[in-house]
Amino acid sequence: MVYDRDDVEGLDASILTNPKVLQYSGHEDTFADPLVDCRSCKSRWRADDLKDHKCPSCNSEDLTRPRPFNLMFKTNIGPVDDGKSFAYLRPETAQQIFTNFKNVLDSTSRNLPFGIAQIGKAFRNEVTPRNFIFRTREFEQMELEFFVVPGTDEKWLDFWVEERLRWWVEQGLDQNSLELHKVEKEKLSHYSKATIDIMYGFPHGLEELEGIANRTDFDLGSHTKRQSELNINSKVKKNTDSATRLAFQDKQTNDWGVPYVVEPSAGVDRGFLAILNEAYRVEKLEGGKERLTLALKPHLAPIKAAVIPLKRNHAGLLEVAAKIKKTLQGLQMGRVLLENSGNIGKNYRRHDEVGTPLCVTVDFQSLEDQTVTLRDRDTMEQRRLPISEVATHLQGLLTPQ
Ligand code: GAP
Repeated sequence: MVYDRDDVEGLDASILTNPKVLQYSGHEDTFADPLVDCRSCKSRWRADDLKDHKCPSCNSEDLTRPRPFNLMFKTNIGPVDDGKSFAYLRPETAQQIFTNFKNVLDSTSRNLPFGIAQIGKAFRNEVTPRNFIFRTREFEQMELEFFVVPGTDEKWLDFWVEERLRWWVEQGLDQNSLELHKVEKEKLSHYSKATIDIMYGFPHGLEELEGIANRTDFDLGSHTKRQSELNINSKVKKNTDSATRLAFQDKQTNDWGVPYVVEPSAGVDRGFLAILNEAYRVEKLEGGKERLTLALKPHLAPIKAAVIPLKRNHAGLLEVAAKIKKTLQGLQMGRVLLENSGNIGKNYRRHDEVGTPLCVTVDFQSLEDQTVTLRDRDTMEQRRLPISEVATHLQGLLTPQ
């Protein structure tokens, strides 16, 4: 999303967030789940988790009315805990992209449209974290804020929905397990003019993997100074604290205006869960044995290749293996592991399970003719190749098709 495109900058901003940012963004007022308490068993639930207005724990219908519960975590700032000096842990990575908008503009030479992307931790005090890593209190988001000329926002929303679908399929998700849901008007977040959710068929049901929202000029418009001079279309709070103009100057007319923004916002953990779900395979082999494989797309595998000398601690084999490891590691395409444990079969199986796409075995023939055996994770096929060709082979494997 950043390196492969020429219209996106990357950012790594702070997690601790000044409350004013989340006040103007609307999070202090609206970032809440409606909760109900069960008077009978004293449990607490998200209102949308209830079926037939019954407590999921004890079936009692003696429930309180839904009350809003703000999801943001607070922490103290400074040595005195007076309740006044606090910060929030960011509930989304997006807000820091908006507050750093001018910094990015000043250090690049950008014209609209362009984007700023960020990947990092976000925190929400979820009442019902569940379904493995589907909903957690500390999670990783990857968000892109793509700034566009107002009026072109709807076209860009369509563009990013298509692009993000294509991207998920490229990461190994089955097209047939992905669905698009247009969020109903009444359910839109306070900042959104339109949102399309990319849904994935998780083992526990069809759920949101990513949302793509047309946030219009709400965010920059909320955080900027001199709001009244900027023709902001969204309904924003009057900002009496901002010291920075978060706007874009038209190079021809010299007029200042607030760009619209289209935001693809995805959960890394949810993405990873979906990818695990697709990649985890149990194969029946001849003789009743089973093989576990994590058939990750090679570019996502945590270990790209394992180099395995046939015999443990054999100086000659180890020397050749170490050289191959160094060459492959030098490609800087990810981790390459030298396995000096000697048991080829066990090593193959272990690397199948963690998703290593390629094993390179150095044997005694290698010392004579400078060839090695390449063993493929998915087909289990083995073939001999000159050592000099291994790097090119691995590079080909790691380039997404
Ligand atoms: N900036 C917009 C935003 O944060 P969101 O729909 O609240 O929108 C975006 O979150 C994505 O972040 C979701 O589609 C989901 O993948 C992920 N996400 C949100 N809450 C999460 C949680 N508690 N645990 C794991 N992932 C979560």
